[in-house]
Amino acid sequence: MSIGADYSSEAGRATDATSLPAQLTVLGLETSCDETAASVVRLATDGSATVLSSVVHSQTEDHAAFGGVVPEIAARSHVEMIDGVVRRAMAEAGLGYEALDGVAATAGPGLVGGVMVGLGFGKAVALARDLPLIAVNHLEGHAVSARLGQPVDYPFLLLLVSGGHCQLLEVRGIGDMTRLGTTIDDAAGEAFDKIAKALGLGYPGGPALEKLAASGDGSRFDLPRALLGRKDCDFSFSGLKTAASRLAQTCETQQDKADLAAAVQTAIARQLSERADRAMKDYATHDSAIALKQPHPAGEASGPPLFVVAGGVAANKTIRATLEATAAKNGFAFLAPPMAYCTDNAAMIALAGAERLRLGLVSDIDTAARPRWPLDEHSALTAPTHAPGRKGAKA
Ligand code: KG4
Ligand code: ZN
Repeated sequence: MSIGADYSSEAGRATDATSLPAQLTVLGLETSCDETAASVVRLATDGSATVLSSVVHSQTEDHAAFGGVVPEIAARSHVEMIDGVVRRAMAEAGLGYEALDGVAATAGPGLVGGVMVGLGFGKAVALARDLPLIAVNHLEGHAVSARLGQPVDYPFLLLLVSGGHCQLLEVRGIGDMTRLGTTIDDAAGEAFDKIAKALGLGYPGGPALEKLAASGDGSRFDLPRALLGRKDCDFSFSGLKTAASRLAQTCETQQDKADLAAAVQTAIARQLSERADRAMKDYATHDSAIALKQPHPAGEASGPPLFVVAGGVAANKTIRATLEATAAKNGFAFLAPPMAYCTDNAAMIALAGAERLRLGLVSDIDTAARPRWPLDEHSALTAPTHAPGRKGAKA
């Protein structure tokens, strides 16, 4: 008898992909944090994706009074909302369940009470309609999200920057990613949220801080620069968070606050672009899938290598612009998902699910919800950035 969770089936077991129709229509479900979302996405044979519907119910108001997401409130709200959100997504797509080829649900990482709601709902649909279930890693959803806006070929260099994660990854395809660097403490979005809270702004803090920063002078405050002596691609935001939160106590006027917000945004943008710059420079000197995307020596151009930024923080315009400039400097093409697909949504889960289904990678019906689930399990096991416990990056 085995004790504890058996995660073996989430990696995806191969099924017969040859019996699948040419285009795949998949219902996606997302409930890993404070958004209850459902979406129907169609994946064509040429790899292009069409979003037939994307419904997102945000719980922001439920958590606003607490200044952050309360897991128990989130899970209850997902239970209350999921039926209606899925019904709307199916109605807006104009489809019945018989038109679906599969159902994909986020199975982690995230707040496990919420993940269980979406995954349980997905299992019920799969069983009732005899559809394949695809358990999707939420981070893999973010990783493919740029493909919702336009066709994007693999491989690409990805900066995944959200409320719970900050990672640089080489993405060679679905389920085939290598982590190049990750945060050793907080995620960038978490720093935005905590500093915004110290400045008396609402939750989520990122968008509120960006708005305030627009009228500020970022050069007035000097903030610490993390991990300066290191040559790797890891991130750290806890020193910045502490310093900025202390400075927030000294702000007297609205202008003081705006100046601090601008300095914080600049500091986060600078750290993200410095690490991305390092990763791009590494590719120039290594024989990798991304470096090989450079123009062919015989003149047969395969296009420049691609840098993609995804996740909630990618909605920040200053950060996008700074990263775009860094990419241009290194000869990389730059891409970010459409704004609506930067923050949590189910279209990215449906697309990741459809891509998995195309490869014949479906999940067992007893797949477990996972609070932690690194995208690159090998790097997470061989080079952990933190010891197990409550603190540290979630994956
Ligand atoms: O990807 P996401 O919706 O959820 C996670 O998977 O974590 O990211 C949410 C994070 C929050 O920390 C939020 O403050 C941040 O993304 N965010 C922003 C902006 N919009 C969302 N941060 C900075 N500027 C923004 N405009
Ligand atoms: Zn997310």
